Amino acid sequence: MASGQLSRAEALACSGFRHACHVMLYSDTKTQLFGRFPIRHIILMQMRFDGLLGFPGGLVNPSEETLEEGLSRELLEELGVALPISVEDHVDSCYAPASPSSSSSSSSRLITHFYVKKMEEEQIKEVERAAASSATDHGQEVLGMVRVPLYTMKGGGGLAPFLSHCFIGNARSQLVDSLLRFNLVAPEELHKALTHSLTKHTHTAEDLKAALALTEARRKRR
Ligand code: APR
Ligand code: MG
Repeated sequence: MASGQLSRAEALACSGFRHACHVMLYSDTKTQLFGRFPIRHIILMQMRFDGLLGFPGGLVNPSEETLEEGLSRELLEELGVALPISVEDHVDSCYAPASPSSSSSSSSRLITHFYVKKMEEEQIKEVERAAASSATDHGQEVLGMVRVPLYTMKGGGGLAPFLSHCFIGNARSQLVDSLLRFNLVAPEELHKALTHSLTKHTHTAEDLKAALALTEARRKRR
């Protein structure tokens, strides 16, 4: 077990911790991008209110609801559909990494529980439609649902640049772990994408520095 991981029962026995549950919903698909790149699986993530990518879900209260009931409640708010999640969908629980933006110890006393649920392609599309049309959190806590591109295009587009975005907490590790655990991407392909992603990161840092320099110049002119 990776450090910080614990069983569902151990996690529930921890006192003084808040609990958050998130889920990766996915389906198989035969669709091809540009008729050439097999999309293979539709995996749903979301752009959160804080500008970070994450999975749907949120804070639950185990003294009033089961973890799975709490997660279904959060999904209704964020996705606009009632999705039953069961204990069998549970993948792991772990202590949340301390947030770099917060120094308070209470915010780091959080346990995150992760679930994965496979659905039919039509059900996933229905979730996407509902998330944009009837979810109460749409446009507020959730800025939009996003699909994870699993393919690699000539020039490296696809999974690699996606993985170099900013993710909440350990959501990137949860994604990578699930891709491997459920055989959604071959380990060699994922390794290649992550290596490419690190290079992209360096370019992004350079881009940001250039944008900062532009802003500085504008500030000085005022
Ligand atoms: N790994 C670790 N922590 C995570 C992950 C993850 N993959 N995903 C979310 N979190 C953390 C968030 O940082 C947050 O502190 O779990 C907590 C709850 O998750 P949210 O989905 O943000 O919770 P939700 O109930 O949907 O929204 C409540 O409103 O009061 C604000 O900032 C508060 O984020 C909170 C939000
Ligand atoms: Mg949430």
